[in-house]
Amino acid sequence: MKFQMTRDITSSIYKDSLTIRKIVFIKEQHVDEALEIDELENQTLHVVGYEGEQACCTARLYEKETGIIKVQRVAVLSSQRGKGYGRELMNAIEDIAKSEFHAHTLILDAQDHAIPFYEKSHFTVFGGPFLDANIPHHHMKKEI
Ligand code: COA
Repeated sequence: MKFQMTRDITSSIYKDSLTIRKIVFIKEQHVDEALEIDELENQTLHVVGYEGEQACCTARLYEKETGIIKVQRVAVLSSQRGKGYGRELMNAIEDIAKSEFHAHTLILDAQDHAIPFYEKSHFTVFGGPFLDANIPHHHMKKEI
């Protein structure tokens, strides 16, 4: 899988990211479009994984504080799940967080069903449960 990144929300990479996010979060998970596409779109680094020409997975990175990157909108197209692409995406995110932001910590808000997926990439849960877009979540983090 080849990963591309952009901060430019007029770029084809961003459009590919948004296409995946609309399918996964808005259509599949019924997240409100106004919550999904938010005010951080042009303040985040968008990452897309391509298998050949096909955009298969995406995430965005938000520098919350110096050295602390929040990983958001992690999504693999449903037809492409279970092939290790999610893990490849998380590895790419870690590399990008180090190279682009000199980050020392990744944080994210995990949907509860995805906690075992993030644990495979050595994230750990901290704090109690909460709802976001009406979906149960926990905070997770990883020192990198
Ligand atoms: N529960 C338990 N384990 C899971 C899992 C789940 N829901 N999803 C993946 N895993 C495990 C896999 O079994 C694999 O472990 P293994 O190597 O020991 O077999 C490892 O995590 C990596 O799996 P991978 O194939 O790389 O994951 P994926 O490409 O299927 O992507 C998601 C996983 C969660 C990103 C994908 O299911 C997805 O996009 N879901 C919808 C969007 C979403 O909920 N995103 C998370 C928002 S917080």
